[in-house]
Amino acid sequence: MSADYQVHGDVAVITLHNPPVNGLGLATRRGITDGLQRAQQDAAVRAIVITGAGAAFSGGADITEFGTDKALAEPNLHTVIAAAEQLTKPVVAALHSVCMGGGLELALGCHYRVAAPGCSIALPEVKLGLLPGAGGTQRLPRVLGVEAALNLIVSGEAVPSEFIAAQPGQKLIDKLVDSRDGLLEGALAFARGVADVRPLPRVRDLPCAHPQGDAYFQFARNMVKGMSKHFPAPLKCVDAVEAATQHRRIDDGLKVERELFIQLMWTPESRALRHLFFAERAASKIPDVPADTPKRDIRKVAVIGAGTMGGGIAMNFLNAGIPVVMLETKQEALDRGTGTMRKNYEAQVKKGKLKQDKYEQRMALLSTTLDYAALADADLVIEAVFEDMGVKEQVFKQLDAVMKPGAILASNTSTLDLNRIAGFTQRPQDVVGLHFFSPANVMKLLEVVRGDATAPEVLATVMAVAKKIKKVAVVSGVCDGFIGNRMIEQYGRQAGFLLDEGCTPQQVDRAIEKFGFAMGPFRMGDLAGNDIGWAIRKRRAVEQPGMKYSKTADLLCERGRFGQKTGAGWYDYVPGKRDAIPNAEVEQMVAEHRQSLGITPRKISDEEIVQRLVYSLVNEAAHILEEGIANKASDIDVVYVFGYGFPVHRGGPLHYASEVGLFNVAQAMRRFAQNPLDDAAFWQPAPLLERLVAEGRQF
Ligand code: NAI
Repeated sequence: MSADYQVHGDVAVITLHNPPVNGLGLATRRGITDGLQRAQQDAAVRAIVITGAGAAFSGGADITEFGTDKALAEPNLHTVIAAAEQLTKPVVAALHSVCMGGGLELALGCHYRVAAPGCSIALPEVKLGLLPGAGGTQRLPRVLGVEAALNLIVSGEAVPSEFIAAQPGQKLIDKLVDSRDGLLEGALAFARGVADVRPLPRVRDLPCAHPQGDAYFQFARNMVKGMSKHFPAPLKCVDAVEAATQHRRIDDGLKVERELFIQLMWTPESRALRHLFFAERAASKIPDVPADTPKRDIRKVAVIGAGTMGGGIAMNFLNAGIPVVMLETKQEALDRGTGTMRKNYEAQVKKGKLKQDKYEQRMALLSTTLDYAALADADLVIEAVFEDMGVKEQVFKQLDAVMKPGAILASNTSTLDLNRIAGFTQRPQDVVGLHFFSPANVMKLLEVVRGDATAPEVLATVMAVAKKIKKVAVVSGVCDGFIGNRMIEQYGRQAGFLLDEGCTPQQVDRAIEKFGFAMGPFRMGDLAGNDIGWAIRKRRAVEQPGMKYSKTADLLCERGRFGQKTGAGWYDYVPGKRDAIPNAEVEQMVAEHRQSLGITPRKISDEEIVQRLVYSLVNEAAHILEEGIANKASDIDVVYVFGYGFPVHRGGPLHYASEVGLFNVAQAMRRFAQNPLDDAAFWQPAPLLERLVAEGRQF
């Protein structure tokens, strides 16, 4: 049973027990209904308190039951809520820590709610492309008022209990106790105080209206439409709350809520969000590194190199309260690096996102040095020096000499062979790749690169560290470009071919941005610096001489058009602004190059642009998966959504391919292979993709 039943004098206490957050799984739901029945039948019990053990009242649905029969098995959540609501003795929900989703819906079915301060209250279903489906949209407006309730439901954001309790007229929280420790006692006293009050107050009996009626909902729809561009759920939330105001009987409103919920369950957007929700959680699990693998303590971090990446990397740790020592070759470089960090923090202070004293506390955790000896007590060192094997060798040899035994030695290299880097030390088991994305203090993604010798303990430790610094970490094997950059190289190649065949940069960018990418390939190149790709292509020309690619990007770089940093790239930029302004000279350069190849331009549809760009990612991803570079398909989706701006509502490249149908994707690839101007060999569907198609399976 995952709900306890105890009697304290004349009050029964039902305590949910389903760690970590008392998800309302079948056993817990059964525990609640059984407890309610027992209390009903026990003449000595005058009132009931429902609360949660451990770290939550309840976080809502039990995610381990998602998509299984258990999720809907009786007693389902509706039945549990009805059981509480219909009891003839008062039921008091005692809320603390977390009261979200189904947990809040259950609390709203109780007759009273007592809360501890600091309890996060939310209906976060919208974040999964859904709406609260167990009465939340009908009951919350009755206790909070239509506007406040709609704001909570549409945003999915959590609000602290003390904030809600302070709202005039609110009926969500009947009593706020002083502290979490005093909650049970406070709830028991409250329950005794109301034990004889009849009729029992029920949220369902409260009125629900907005003084402006239709006009308000029209306004709400306009507001929500702007925010929820690609997502249908927020607008359906408005519909559901409006229904609460339109139906006199709550049961009619509940019926509307149910219908809207089912509609949303079937939308591709909700499927994508639910996929990513699980994908993000699954990413931290490594098949051969069990959860109980011992982890090392990381109390102090060293960063080598105070350039673009080093400063951002250091900020992650400072933000998490972990001291950092930063090493450079020259004092000027240290000063420049720390200056940039300060500027970053100051911008946050200016925007009101960071308090001045917090900023100072963070910077106080930073020390700088020119001397390797100062790194000796660090538990983790992250190297972010020039992308040059010779420099990396020098650095890792010195680290090997000074770092204490058991320290983890990490490299932020984006392209170099981690196994070779590990080979520069006598402790390859302690070497790992930590590939941050720029800007490193902002981007959520972290590729954890696992070398041949990397110890499971080291992997387990860095995955835990990633969580601490609020990154989404995905494990990648060693290969050129790891998961993300290896895929984007193919994407970039397709973008180049599209120019050669007849597109303009803005046509390509516009098409893929309409699909939902934050930025098209050319705007992205301008942001990252076109010279980076140029350097990679030069290296490729040596390593893989026959590799086919469009030369337009090289021509662009030869003109010094490196992107935003030079004020000119595929587009022009006004200093200090990021708006991309089309440039006639670039268009002419593309046309002349096309001509020099003897290509007659053709009109290329947006559909073809999107398919070629996205399916190039899919095919490369299938190779990556088959080679074991990625552990699972969902890891690749996480990399692309969190690191490369792949549209969230499409769920990542592989989820999207499965939605389109792998048969259709492979057919399109074969069609692209017929194009003499493209790379026929690349477009042979990857063997894994072919196999999945043959077996009628998905990624
Ligand atoms: P950067 O050129 O901005 O900074 C490198 C810093 O390392 C410079 O401040 C330099 O003075 C310092 N340095 C060079 N040799 C050193 C040595 N022997 N000892 C101590 N410090 C030394 O380079 P950036 O962009 O920060 O890149 C650093 C690493 O991060 C590279 O491996 C790069 O591939 C990788 N990376 C870069 C990304 C980017 O977007 N810039 C993204 C992800 C990884």
